[in-house]
Amino acid sequence: MDESSIAKSSIEWRQGQPYANAFQDVYFSSDNGLLETEYVFLQGNQLSARWQHLSTKTFTIAETGFGTGLNFLCAVKLWLASAPNDAVLHFISLEKYPLNLADLTKALQLWPELQALSTPFLAEYAQLLSTSAINNTQTVMLFDNRVRLTLIIDDATAGLKSLNLANFNNASTTIDAWFLDGFSPAKNPDMWQVALFEQMARLSNLTTTFATFTSAGAVRRGLIANDFVVKKQAGFGKKREMLFGQFLHDK
Ligand SMILES: C[S@@+](CC[C@H](N)C(=O)[O-])C[C@H]1O[C@@H](n2cnc3c(N)ncnc32)[C@H](O)[C@@H]1O
Repeated sequence: MDESSIAKSSIEWRQGQPYANAFQDVYFSSDNGLLETEYVFLQGNQLSARWQHLSTKTFTIAETGFGTGLNFLCAVKLWLASAPNDAVLHFISLEKYPLNLADLTKALQLWPELQALSTPFLAEYAQLLSTSAINNTQTVMLFDNRVRLTLIIDDATAGLKSLNLANFNNASTTIDAWFLDGFSPAKNPDMWQVALFEQMARLSNLTTTFATFTSAGAVRRGLIANDFVVKKQAGFGKKREMLFGQFLHDK
């Protein structure tokens, strides 16, 4: 892929936090993005308990909307603290409008507590955006080979349609946990299309979970129509409710 063909994100900084002009939306909660990630995505997928009792050598997360990498780094932090040393976290993220290195660096400076993790990640970020990617996909190993990060620079649904986990030597060819991020469905309906939920079902197994910050009806209905059990709980910060749940249908 030619770097000039990558649609770069246009952001501004509002009170020190990244803001997407094109979507009129924030990258994370202005209340506390880090706590939001822990609450919505890590706890929403029960990752701490699952990783402490992990019986497989790989655990695969797929995320829609890599953004600043905050969700990724929070997941890595928990993984390194709780998962067995010989297991690999494969974190796959789909991002249509990647941040440039300067903006991403500035965004991650908001989290000094993640610096030990963000520094080695930032050293690889330019490579992840590099022009030679096959299928717009780049993979790097990080953190003493305990984490594999795959960044797919594409629309979430389009990227999932061509995703074949067997190409990564994954022990499993399905996703274990979904992080449904992305700007709010009202502001970004293109991402939250029915085909996205169909792809999620194609790539899920009986123990696959999902979590998302939104409780939008179209998202809930799309997940239910594709065999996910959908539950609601209080949302983070100003958000009234969020969704989480599990895939029901065995392949
Ligand atoms: C709220 S931000 C995600 C924040 C991110 N998870 C983090 O940890 O910083 C939403 C992200 O979704 C991306 N996005 C928007 N539409 C998309 C699409 N159709 N496919 C893939 N990514 C998309 C945006 O560029 C943005 O980076």
